[in-house]
Parts: sequence; C-alpha cells; structure tokens
Amino acid sequence: MSDLGSTVIVGGTSGLGREVAQILAGRGEEVVITGRDKAKTDSVAAQIGGRTRGLALDLAAPNEIAGRLAEIGQVKSLVIAAIERDENSIRKYDIARATRLMTIKLIGYSEVIHALATRFAPNASIVLFGGLAKERPYPGSTTVSTVNGGIATMVHTLAVELAPLRVNAIHPGIIGDSPAWSGKPPEVLERARVRTPTGRLANMADVAGAVIFLLENQSINGVNLNIDGGWLLL
Ligand SMILES: NC(=O)c1ccc[n+]([C@@H]2O[C@H](COP(=O)([O-])OP(=O)(O)OC[C@H]3O[C@@H](n4cnc5c(N)ncnc54)[C@H](OP(=O)(O)O)[C@@H]3O)[C@@H](O)[C@H]2O)c1
Repeated sequence: MSDLGSTVIVGGTSGLGREVAQILAGRGEEVVITGRDKAKTDSVAAQIGGRTRGLALDLAAPNEIAGRLAEIGQVKSLVIAAIERDENSIRKYDIARATRLMTIKLIGYSEVIHALATRFAPNASIVLFGGLAKERPYPGSTTVSTVNGGIATMVHTLAVELAPLRVNAIHPGIIGDSPAWSGKPPEVLERARVRTPTGRLANMADVAGAVIFLLENQSINGVNLNIDGGWLLL
C-alpha cells in the first residue's frame, strides 16, 4: 500500500480489528485504532507499536462521532469491526439492547463513513464487518443476525454512492482463536469444527489476510466475503 494517509480501524483494540492493526503496523503503515475508552485505546496502540495511535469514540453515540474523528487527516483505508454483543430473541425482546446494537452496527458504522467522506484518498477502500449469524442464526442472535444482514446490503449502496471508493464486507464464521470464542467450552468449538469442510475453524490470521486482500485489490467492490472454511455448506 502506498503512503496516502492512515488506516483507521474502528474497534481496533481487540480481536479481529486489532489483528488487522498489528499486521499493518508491522508493515510500517500509519494506523489509528479506536475503542470506547481513551486510556485503554492508547495503551493498546502502544502495545501494537509502530506508527499506531489511539482515538476514543462510541458508536452508540452517533451524534458525537464526527467530532471524535475531527483530528483524522487523509484516510487511505477504513475498517469498521466494532461490536457489543447482545443476546436477544423475539419472544424475550429487549428493546434497549436491540436499539443499542442496531445503533452501533448500522447507524454508527454509517456515521463514521459519513464523517470521513471528504477525507478518503484516491483509491481508498472500506471494509465493514458483518458475520455469518445473518445466515446461520443461533439462540439469542436475533439482533446480531439482523444487523449483520444490514451490513451485507449496506456495502451495495455505499459502493454505488461513494464510487470510485470501494466498499466490501467480511462475514466471519466462528473464529476459534478470537477473544469472543477462544474461552468457550471446547465441545462448543468442536461442534462447529466438525461441520466445517476444511476440518478447522477459521482463525484471526485468516480474517486479517482477507481484510487486507479486500483493502488492496483494486477490482473487488461491493462484495460480501465469508471467512468460514465452507461452514455454511454443511
Ligand atoms: N470473533 C468472531 O468469531 C466473529 C464472528 C462473526 C462476526 N464477527 C464480527 O467481527 C467483528 C469483530 O469481532 P471481534 O470478535 O473481533 O470483536 P471484539 O474482540 O469483541 O472487539 C470489539 C471491538 O469493538 C469495540 N467496541 C465495542 N463497543 C463499541 C462501541 N459502542 N463503540 C465503538 N467501539 C466499540 C471494542 O473496543 P473497546 O472495548 O476497547 O471499547 C473492540 O475494539 C464484529 O463486528 C463481529 O460482529 C466476529
């Protein structure tokens, strides 16, 4: 990637966003990671090292996002990976939790892009994170499935509206070594693994590699890319 500004990773203090940040920082890229808490975000940025800095913003407060991003200069890549997981079902519907997650993943993600819209470099690209709960629900995934489905459609309108910028989405399956899953009982992970044609769960390195491919390849646009070892096939 040429040096045309920073890569902004919203939700870069943990998990998949952090993994992408670590790889890009290791290549000498200028990286801005965000999390909700300034001190934690700065501390993670220091751990990642290189030309990484932290910036605090809360996607659940979309009216504040533009102000938080005011200090960002030219952006050559934007990755939005943030999530606050929620457990919701339609029979026990928690409106407050649903409103919060929908605000974060649909309005918050959109507002970040809106706020940065005039600062993208030529050839810049955007990668959004959805997830395969959109196609394979699990108990309590009603809101998660809904917002991830929203991400899958959002990339289409954004790729058209923001052209010639490219906009794509990653939809991870169960990423076995991610903080969200690595502490689960082994039998839970094993149930998913045996349904995966590759015989292994996708890992964080697989996802980060796919994000970088989407950021760099100049002809991939409006794509929803599953990273799941073929899990949906069985
Ligand atoms: N891990 C998987 O197996 C998996 C599977 C399917 C889909 N996904 C998707 O992949 C993405 C990354 O998942 P992950 O497991 O890597 O996540 P994670 O480890 O839980 O990290 C979540 C990130 O989001 C940030 N965040 C949380 N709430 C926020 C808010 N209100 N405003 C701004 N930032 C906020 C967190 O920062 P702070 O805590 O520092 O504030 C953290 O950096 C998510 O969109 C998720 O839906 C992951």
